[in-house]
Amino acid sequence: MNFPLRLRFPRALASVGWVAYVLLGGLIVVNSLPYFTEGDRMPFIGEKGAIGESGTWRAALLVHVASGIVCLAAAVGQFFRGLLRRFPWLHRWMGRAYVWSTLLFLCPSGAYLALFAKGGLAGQTGFLLLGGLMFHSTLNGQRAILRRDTPSHVRWMLRSFAMAATAITFRVLHLGFALAGMVYETNYIIALWLSIVLNVAVAESVIRLLPITRKRQTTIDHETDPSSSFPPPRPRHRWRRMPLRRPRLFRPESF
Ligand code: HEM
Repeated sequence: MNFPLRLRFPRALASVGWVAYVLLGGLIVVNSLPYFTEGDRMPFIGEKGAIGESGTWRAALLVHVASGIVCLAAAVGQFFRGLLRRFPWLHRWMGRAYVWSTLLFLCPSGAYLALFAKGGLAGQTGFLLLGGLMFHSTLNGQRAILRRDTPSHVRWMLRSFAMAATAITFRVLHLGFALAGMVYETNYIIALWLSIVLNVAVAESVIRLLPITRKRQTTIDHETDPSSSFPPPRPRHRWRRMPLRRPRLFRPESF
């Protein structure tokens, strides 16, 4: 199949994805808020049995839920180029909230909760893998922008966002499988692993489709509005430093 040279990600599909993210992510946030007020009455805590009584586990769950809400909310407008151009400071502050809530709270608390997760070894390893992938991609995305490598930053943050969005995919699949009559434990494990695989596949496809992820030089904000870039752009040199000496083999006096 012949693809056009500069294939752009279809805007309509991106808009549908964004609306679904806001609605379903909002639903998760609304359903999670009672963890801070209802405590014991939350069915998830009741299902956990003895570990649900542990103060450490409960503290980890509250940290996890709070940082998950920050993470979902902070990601909402991060992939809009128009928003980034008009309000670069908002992108930076939301990005910081996303990165620090993920690296310091969401992934570490999730990794601790994973040790006691439902679904036995398959469930535990699934959550640990998810946490590892999200931590790794978020850290790489943060490092990339600190060295002003925008394409790499976009790539890694798309991967990180895909992992955050498994919170949504997992619940959608879990509900779908339950309605289809799948046994609870099998449902939990399959929904978890499938949500990771699906989201990784979508992220990698989007990365291949978006031209910005292939560019070598920063073109989003540094070129159009140098005052908006942070850290400030380095001066660009048109010349390249030439090697001081030619390789020995090609020096004319050696012939
Ligand atoms: C923004 C993304 C995330 C949100 C909003 C989120 C939210 C939640 C919530 C609300 C719960 C409580 C259970 C429920 O009410 O369904 C939970 C449980 C849990 N989360 Fe997350 N989470 C996110 C990402 C992650 C990540 C990246 C990991 C990976 C380490 C993870 C690991 C877990 C584990 C292990 C549990 C307990 C599951 C169990 O005991 O069976 N979560 N999460």
